[in-house]
Amino acid sequence: MADRRGAASILSPSLLSADFGALAEQVRAVEKGGAGAIHLDVMDGHFVPNLTIGPPVVKAVDRITALPLDVHLMIEEPDRYLEAFRESGADWISVHQEAVPHLHRTVTRIRQLGASPGVVLNPATPLGTLDDILEFVDFVLLMSVNPGFGGQTFIPAVLSKVSSLRSKIAGRGLNVRIEVDGGVALGNAADLVRAGAGILVAGNAIFGSGDPSANTRDLLRRMAEGES
Ligand code: DX5
Ligand code: ZN
Repeated sequence: MADRRGAASILSPSLLSADFGALAEQVRAVEKGGAGAIHLDVMDGHFVPNLTIGPPVVKAVDRITALPLDVHLMIEEPDRYLEAFRESGADWISVHQEAVPHLHRTVTRIRQLGASPGVVLNPATPLGTLDDILEFVDFVLLMSVNPGFGGQTFIPAVLSKVSSLRSKIAGRGLNVRIEVDGGVALGNAADLVRAGAGILVAGNAIFGSGDPSANTRDLLRRMAEGES
């Protein structure tokens, strides 16, 4: 992640809404459209009310693409699985503030394993909870829906949360990227980038309907408008 910081904003398509029977094709399509990473949503049925994928699927995607794998862990006790995800090809690993009691230990471990650590905040978790961890992470993922499912509606209040976080990061002279996940679409992508988001995740907007390649390109075009 270090080499991408300060660069143009990145689009990280979430495979949660992809056709799992044609995963290779879907990944290649978004790659062709200009995706900068691939977002993988790991859910355990405890921390969030849904079950998804584990290390074998991450490994399969790693074989398909050279893009960084952006692994979002929505699980309890993520420490137990960090090594397995890293070995499967996870490049960026994010854990939820709400799920991890010893956050400093967890992010330090992610870095030791050679991945970029990120911390995730649910929509109702305040930015103040980041104060003592911000300098130890490469990115903060702000959830703009309550995690668990793709295709939910963006919570508009997250827009000002992004701006506040950007000021907080700049005020402390840190080089931490802001990622936003949930309900990202053509209508809010430019505003999010303008507010300070450097990485946008999109599932339904890319894989929900139409051509994933074209949808990726269209979203990137909107993101570029927010940069100017
Ligand atoms: C939600 C997941 C998201 C989700 C985004 O819990 O973390 O990554 O797949 O999907 P959309 O873009 O459809 O909201
Ligand atoms: Zn996610």
